[in-house]
Amino acid sequence: MIKKFRLGNPINTESVVKDIPIEEGNLEGFSFDSEKLSFKKFINPKTVIYGLGETTRGINKRGFVYKSFCSDDPNHDEDKQSLYGAQNFFIIDDGNKAAGYYFDFPGIITFDMGFTELNTVEITLSYGDADIYLVTGESKTSIVKQFRELIGQSYIPPKWAFGYGQSRWSYFTSDEVREVYAKYKEAGIPLEMIYLDIDYMERYKDFTISKEAFPDFEELVSDMAKENVHLVPIIDAGVKIEKDYDVYEEGVKNNYFCKKDNGEDLVAAVWPGQSHLPDFLNKETREWFGNRYKFLIDKGIDGFWNDMNEPAIFYTKDHLEEVFEKVNDYRGKNLDVDSFFEFTGMFYSISNNMEDYRRFYHNMDGKKINHEKVHNLYGYNMTRAAGEAFERISPDKRILMFSRSSYVGMHRYGGIWTGDNKSWWSHLLLNVQQLPALNMCGFMYVGADTGGFGSHASKDLMLRWLAVSMFTPLFRNHAAKGTRRQELYEFGDSKDFKELIKLRYALIPYLYSEYMKAVKNNDMMFKPLSFEYSDSRVNEIEDELLVGESIMIAPVTKQNATGRYVYLPEDMKLIRFRGPKNYDEEILEKGDHYVKAETNEVLVFIRPGHELPLAEAAMSVEEIDYSTIRYLSYKADGVKYDMYDDDGVSRN
Ligand code: GLC
Repeated sequence: MIKKFRLGNPINTESVVKDIPIEEGNLEGFSFDSEKLSFKKFINPKTVIYGLGETTRGINKRGFVYKSFCSDDPNHDEDKQSLYGAQNFFIIDDGNKAAGYYFDFPGIITFDMGFTELNTVEITLSYGDADIYLVTGESKTSIVKQFRELIGQSYIPPKWAFGYGQSRWSYFTSDEVREVYAKYKEAGIPLEMIYLDIDYMERYKDFTISKEAFPDFEELVSDMAKENVHLVPIIDAGVKIEKDYDVYEEGVKNNYFCKKDNGEDLVAAVWPGQSHLPDFLNKETREWFGNRYKFLIDKGIDGFWNDMNEPAIFYTKDHLEEVFEKVNDYRGKNLDVDSFFEFTGMFYSISNNMEDYRRFYHNMDGKKINHEKVHNLYGYNMTRAAGEAFERISPDKRILMFSRSSYVGMHRYGGIWTGDNKSWWSHLLLNVQQLPALNMCGFMYVGADTGGFGSHASKDLMLRWLAVSMFTPLFRNHAAKGTRRQELYEFGDSKDFKELIKLRYALIPYLYSEYMKAVKNNDMMFKPLSFEYSDSRVNEIEDELLVGESIMIAPVTKQNATGRYVYLPEDMKLIRFRGPKNYDEEILEKGDHYVKAETNEVLVFIRPGHELPLAEAAMSVEEIDYSTIRYLSYKADGVKYDMYDDDGVSRN
């Protein structure tokens, strides 16, 4: 059952699709402090908290303070309260009863999950207008299901988007793209997408192509298409200020950009330098910007990634001026501890500055709204602009779309990648822990930058990361400028990589089937063990996941380990894969085990009464031959596996 409570006069975020009558009074089960705008609830020592989507720390969110404020932070560690997305849905399970809460609130909101006081959850709003939903049901899964019905069906990508993709910031020329393809081919490793980062554009201008670097763009797209490889370009939120650049000129003329209080267009810098930020909260801007994707779709492109849409701001022209003015005040002074840190602090806080987020306004249905109040809707509405446009431009064929920033509601228009991460073992574990929370909030087409975006990746990290991303719908290897090359042929002998990517392709019939069933049933594809088992141990398992109905995974996320401890909530059959045809099997009893797993091995556990379909490997999704499927199973006599499949491209 869902109950809706209202505070003040909330902005309509359009994150939910159902109209629910508003209850009288305050949110049930919480006390409300109308001065602090905070909701408090006592939690017992056994209480476990799940959800909040893309956040730091573990599956159990208890014990830390999280803050929804979409933030660009490539160096995030466990201190970070905000990441790229804002997904304000969580479940509190007190051991007897669970309840779900969704705070539909687009501004800054703080979730103190038993940090300040160990036994208290306190949620604080930055202003007093919000819709709050209370979801109750007989299980956590049923609570999630009802919430997901409330927010509408999750995005469905084309089936080829389950293939393996290679990315780098950047492949600078058309020749470099061809070379990446050729090297994958030579190594015999399947490859489905090559991503184009900002350097395919002319001076980082959206909806342009660099004529020098990509003179044969259309030919490149079609040559790659013949090999079943899709080119997936990036689109950035900021529009370069440049005379005669049509996107800029049209945007200014029609008031499509975010404005300052005085009515001037805000000047904010991103990759192209001084830019304007499209006002995606304005319906007309959305329609205009969305239609622009046609420029690339007409050239044969059928997938995109939307970036920098928190929005990330390097600096605003106004703030930079203020900094320059102040700098001189410090010249010649004997800077002491306070003044020195004030001085350096001025520089550290130039990017993504809170003052800057208060400097501009949106036009939402004719109403002028300060950005800070609706910050978390920006990336959502950029992606919605694209998603709505794709339905017009490509009514029959699905288009791949995923975004960096997000808010609940965006899950209907695209997937997400979890933003910039690092080639750190801790970020590999974080990748595992975020997956169920993302699914809870409707984000199903998800994945992390495999191998890590920043920092240098070692071969063993890359292998271990493949063993996780192999199960995520979005499977993309992406790395930043200046880092060690991360293409799978760059680490010496690539045989192990080849076998693992082939295993991914062999698993696609299962992964696609489980994805589509989860989307259609408003279910999760990745679940913590405690969503299906209830013994005393499962609440504490932070590094094993159920993937779909048949299997559990237990990835190795520690360096130099040759195995790991695995807890089995019931007897299962271990399949230790080294490739689609190379594996060994073993029945393991319920309980704790130390399970060996070399860096080229992937641990999959089949649940009793279940089957895992496995096809022969293929070089592309299209070439997967379903007639080759065999079933690995455990105690599944007479059991049938429900396989979902379709043509992979139709929207219907
Ligand atoms: C941002 C993106 C990253 C991309 C880079 C350059 O940092 O998150 O994926 O490579 O911008 O466009």
